[in-house]
Parts: sequence; structure tokens; C-alpha cells
Amino acid sequence: MMKIDEAGTVLTSGGRNTRRPVSTVNTLNGERTYAASVDIKAIRARFAFPGSSRIVTNNAASTQPPRDLLELYRSLAPGYENVHRGQSSASQEMTALFESSYDTIAQFLCAPSRASIALYRNTTEAINAVMYSLLSEFRDGDNVVTTMLEHNSNYVPWYGMCREILPRLGRRVEYRLVRFDPLTGELDLGHMASLIDARTKLVCCTGASNFVGTRSPLTAIRALADSSGYLQPSGERRSHLLVDAAQLVPGSFVDVQALDADYLAFSFHKMLAPFGVGVLYGKEHLLQAARPFLYGGDMIAEGRVFPERVEYNCLPWKYSAGTPNILGRSSPRRRCVS
Ligand SMILES: Cc1ncc(COP(=O)(O)O)c(C=O)c1O
Repeated sequence: MMKIDEAGTVLTSGGRNTRRPVSTVNTLNGERTYAASVDIKAIRARFAFPGSSRIVTNNAASTQPPRDLLELYRSLAPGYENVHRGQSSASQEMTALFESSYDTIAQFLCAPSRASIALYRNTTEAINAVMYSLLSEFRDGDNVVTTMLEHNSNYVPWYGMCREILPRLGRRVEYRLVRFDPLTGELDLGHMASLIDARTKLVCCTGASNFVGTRSPLTAIRALADSSGYLQPSGERRSHLLVDAAQLVPGSFVDVQALDADYLAFSFHKMLAPFGVGVLYGKEHLLQAARPFLYGGDMIAEGRVFPERVEYNCLPWKYSAGTPNILGRSSPRRRCVS
């Protein structure tokens, strides 16, 4: 028998303490995964909640803020300022820090550049941004394929678009739902293949399910979307793929270029970062061509506001209207990926 003590030390039945990797067996596919031993005391020390005797079981909804984050907020307080609209050195410093977060996020996702990152309040808003940006592109008779494994965030926007918004504009667009096996939690790829056709503009799929925990086979799903033959306005002949990565990014290394995702969304608050920031990765040519979701200040190129014609800022500012969660967006720190 094997036990792990509070410090992450593996205790074997012979009483000998070893620091070897802990392994678990996945009951669904029998695969054994090894985790490095963890120093639980050191991890606990980074959070405030253990001190209040709270037992936190809701990490999948939102993680607890580490002390490092609270300290970062405290250190930013003396220079508290809005961004892009102040002459003070505090405003300029805050703007520089805030701006650098786009590069950090792009690097974190292995995205080609900051121009493929747009920031919103959460995953839900990021997915809605894609929906509203593409709204005018959907043609009568098109369809969207999504799945029964989705969080409401990746289902309700498509339901609303197909059932409530587009019918009022005289367009019929169908949403189609892929089923999953309730015993294994795996998506039924055969069913997905039967639902994707030459009128499927978009396939929307979770990267990891929030209720059964299974991961979607994104490479196979990408291949199905590729083979549809749907004619996009750019001339590409394939369905776009949107990945709801709210539960995928916090627990795995995600390379958006390797996945070849067209859009991918996740929330900071599920990965030790603040509430109120959601990331949308989108291929640059798609973000460039699409209509913005939110219109207003900060997205307009300086000195280019005329009564008859408005010129938008270059990416990613085209997608950033109004005062954002400045401290929240300034929180990412660079990490090195080898
Ligand atoms: C898979 C998945 N998608 C989307 C969301 C919505 O995230 P948010 O509330 O940050 O928009 C969640 C939240 O639990 C989720 O688990």
C-alpha cells in the first residue's frame, strides 16, 4: 500500500519513505500517468484560505488567488491609473505593463503574435464575441455543429444565434448537436462526421468537459472540420474550429498552432489569475477580417474619428473597446517553454 504525507512524500508499505513519482491509473483507458511529487505544505503556504480552515472543492469553477497575486495587486496600487489615456508616468508605466500582457499570453499559447489575442471578461464573452463577429457572415442554409458535452457558454450563444437572432434577419441557420457516450464520456466522432457537411461554417467543441472531465480528440475533430469543404469568405474550403478551452488550458500545455484552432477561449479565474479576464485567440486573418463585437473608445485609431468614417486601431486594439480590467490583465508573467 502507498500513502502520501502532507509534504508529498510517498510512504511505502515497508515504512521506507521515498520521493518517487506518484502514479494514477485512468479507469477509462487503463493508462498510467505519473505526477512528480509535490510539496503540499509549500503550496498551501501560497494561499490564504487554509488559514481560515476552509476546505475548497470548487477549483474547476474558480481557483483561489495565490498570495503572489495579492502581492502583485498591492505592488501595482501606488501607480494605479487608466491605460492609453494619460500623460503621467504612472499611466505610461501601467500602459506598458498592460500592453506586455498580450505578448505574454501569445507566448503562453504559442500563438504567432499578439495580433491573434483579444481580451474580454471571460470565456463566455469571448465565445459571444466570435458569435457576434461572425453573425453577418452566416448564409441562409448554413449550420453550426456543437456538442452535448459543452458548457452552456458554448451552446447557448449558438442556440441564440440560430433560433433568436438570425431568424429575425431572415436567415435560417441550424445548430447541430453531437452526442457522447454516457458510459465513457467520449464524444461520438461518427455522429460528428455525419453532422458536418459542406454548409458547416463552424465546429464548436470543448477541449475538456467541465462535467465528465474527458478531453475531446481535437486533432480528429480538426480533420473532420477540414474535410467539410465549406467555402469561407477568405476562400478557404473548410469549417472553422472553435475550442472552448476553459477547462483545457489550466491543466495542459496548449499550442494553438499545433492544434490549428481558428478560435480558442479560456478564463483567467480558473488558473490562479483574477476574475474578469477572458482570452480569445483567433487566427490573425480571421480577426482582421471580422467585425468587432464591442464598439467604442480605445479601438479607434488616434486622430481618425470623422463624422462619416471611422478607422479602427490595428489588432489587437480593434477588439478592445472601453476601459478593461487593467490590473487583471496586467497579471500574467512570462514563462519559459522549452
Ligand atoms: C468548459 C467551460 N466552458 C466555459 C465556462 C465558462 O467560463 P466563464 O464563466 O469564465 O465564462 C466554464 C466555466 O465553468 C467551463 O467549465
